[in-house]
Amino acid sequence: MNPLSRLTDLAAAAWYKARLRSMGYDARAVALQEHAKFTRLELDPDAALTQLNPILERRFGHPHRSDHDSIHWLLFAAVIAAHSPKRILEIGTHLGEFTAILAELAPQAQIITLDLPEDDPVMRSIYGREDADAYADFLARQRANTSAPNITRVAVNSLFMLEKVEGPFDLIWVDGDHGYPAVAWDIAMAWRLLAPGGHLLCDDVMPNLPTDAGHGVYTSVASYETLEYLAARVGAPVSYFLKRRHPRRALAPQRQKYVSCLAKPID
Ligand SMILES: C[S@@+](CC[C@H](N)C(=O)[O-])C[C@H]1O[C@@H](n2cnc3c(N)ncnc32)[C@H](O)[C@@H]1O
Repeated sequence: MNPLSRLTDLAAAAWYKARLRSMGYDARAVALQEHAKFTRLELDPDAALTQLNPILERRFGHPHRSDHDSIHWLLFAAVIAAHSPKRILEIGTHLGEFTAILAELAPQAQIITLDLPEDDPVMRSIYGREDADAYADFLARQRANTSAPNITRVAVNSLFMLEKVEGPFDLIWVDGDHGYPAVAWDIAMAWRLLAPGGHLLCDDVMPNLPTDAGHGVYTSVASYETLEYLAARVGAPVSYFLKRRHPRRALAPQRQKYVSCLAKPID
């Protein structure tokens, strides 16, 4: 890079930072606050990055970018490093990209990932799966991503998961339907399936419903309300990690999403 464009880049970055600060966003304070959430759970995000980044570099050609990439990649890397789970359950496989990351982060663990069966009324109506070619492509990518020997795919609506999946699990990722009623029973059943000392993580938790929200399954306060209901009764607090630190999101608290983490007490 020539010195002039380097200077221009630095000036642009400084201007952007100053503008964010003037709008009340302090990137460093946010980074420290999020780091402290890991520390409170006795997790080490810096050590976890050294496990995660080579996997991401190989798969996507870049390390974890806190502004753009979901924090759940790093959170899982940290929980796996600290607790060496032997059995992991993922509700919502989709393309299996995260399942593949999990299989690399925890090669000794048995990973069960479930998604809707083909004849479920919803399966072909989301993620562009209405189109036959797109659906075939989705299945092929899902199959390829979940081909590691420690992954088992299960085709079941999570409503019926107790008929197909046996606990206990040490780590559960709730990332299927994000709205009522499904996410409420997903969380309740996941809690049942979780071993004492195990960790329950949920994606896309929204404490607030954006005023301009539609009724999409990914814009719902259902998981937040269910987690708070559960936490008040099991004597364990829920930690909420900012899903992405991008200031555009942080400056719009109504639209902010979190990844939650709740550890099951050992009694
Ligand atoms: C957000 S995607 C999962 C993404 C994936 N976990 C990841 O991190 O890359 C949600 C998936 O959940 C599936 N799903 C939705 N409702 C479900 C249900 N009731 N039971 C099982 N899977 C469901 C959808 O078909 C979709 O593939």
